[in-house]
Amino acid sequence: MSQPCVNIGMVGHVDHGKTTLVRALSGYWTDTHSEEVKRGISIRLGYADSLFMRCPKCPSPQCYTVEKTCPNCGEQTEEHRTVSFVDAPGHETLMATMLSGAAIMDGAVLVIAANEDCPQPQTKEHLMALDIIGIKNIVIVQNKIDLVPRERIIENYKQIKKFVKGTVAENAPVIPISAQQNINIDILIDTLETEIPTPVHKIDRPASMLIARSFDVNKPGASIDEIQGGVIGGTLTEGVLRPGDELEIRPGIKVTTEGTTKWVPIMTTVSLIYAGPTKVEEATPGGLLAVGTYLDPTLTKGDSLTGQIAGTPGTLPDTRHQFVMELHLLDRVVGVTREEKINEIKTSEPLMLNIGTATTVGVVTSARKNEAQVALKRPISAAIGSRVAISRRIDSRWRLIGVGVIKS
Ligand code: GTP
Repeated sequence: MSQPCVNIGMVGHVDHGKTTLVRALSGYWTDTHSEEVKRGISIRLGYADSLFMRCPKCPSPQCYTVEKTCPNCGEQTEEHRTVSFVDAPGHETLMATMLSGAAIMDGAVLVIAANEDCPQPQTKEHLMALDIIGIKNIVIVQNKIDLVPRERIIENYKQIKKFVKGTVAENAPVIPISAQQNINIDILIDTLETEIPTPVHKIDRPASMLIARSFDVNKPGASIDEIQGGVIGGTLTEGVLRPGDELEIRPGIKVTTEGTTKWVPIMTTVSLIYAGPTKVEEATPGGLLAVGTYLDPTLTKGDSLTGQIAGTPGTLPDTRHQFVMELHLLDRVVGVTREEKINEIKTSEPLMLNIGTATTVGVVTSARKNEAQVALKRPISAAIGSRVAISRRIDSRWRLIGVGVIKS
């Protein structure tokens, strides 16, 4: 399998079938954490690579499959495109994870279950998040069509069309499928081929990688000779990365000396790179990478570097402890049964801010109608012009209320 060239998000309401669809498209189960399996919901971001195959004899869409032999004619299929699926959790308490996942998506599949009325709260909230983060290539799947009669599928289709009217997904194709029964998966792949094309990547720029996960891959009790350096997982947005390359990670680590606290960038060297299960000598943008380093694994343990940026030393955006953002607030809160009006942002209120894969809390230090200054609890590395997804605490949950653009 070659390195994936595009990241496709799976978004939608809890239990509508995102994980099942990723499995149908890749043969891989993305819920890998025992806690997730126990609770039956995706907690952290899951991802899986998939190789779309094409039968040389059959016409499209029947030619598309993920199998090595064509299910229609039995002919050997040929490798077509490798994509990476990012499976975002659908539970309302996990919007921060969904938002950081959305930062690495080039396009998204909005999964809607045909056996429930549309829209469900997180169907709405996730579509709004795609809009806020600027994801325009969207395919809607109407899942679980095996559970309901034809009339109900048509009625649900009408609800979907009404719901997306006036949104970024207004013209998105709607594909009826059953992820569990493998119905219309060929049509879905055909649609993904046209609607979510491979983006043009800037590989001649310095390397820049958004960190989505970080790990300590060592088993407890590993001997000193066996210990492997810390691993970071994420996606390259620009440039290329090779083993032996120097790497800077920002904001880095918090260091307190004589009562003063500073965030110090981490410097290391790439030891090895995996694109999915394949060890590569050169990684390019697209797909999720696991990058081995020579760092002390305690620095990368348990997603501790999630939200940071890694890349060519000296080229990363500044570390910001505060910033001023231009505000674009929504009219009403989405994702709740009672959709109340969104009031203006006030001085001293805490906001949850998602910038790239980073989630941080910022306290508003000054607010005007279209602008707010925030002091961050945890700094971020971000350039001027970066988008910020803004959430406010409403009824003890963080709710998406708008988007900001960093001005200074
Ligand atoms: P979260 O990640 O927790 O948001 O859920 P999810 O959207 O990933 O849903 P998941 O894939 O875990 O599916 C939820 C349930 O629906 C499981 O019991 C699946 O087996 C079932 N399911 C998914 N797709 C289909 C389908 O096409 N038909 C039927 N009958 N059941 C399905």
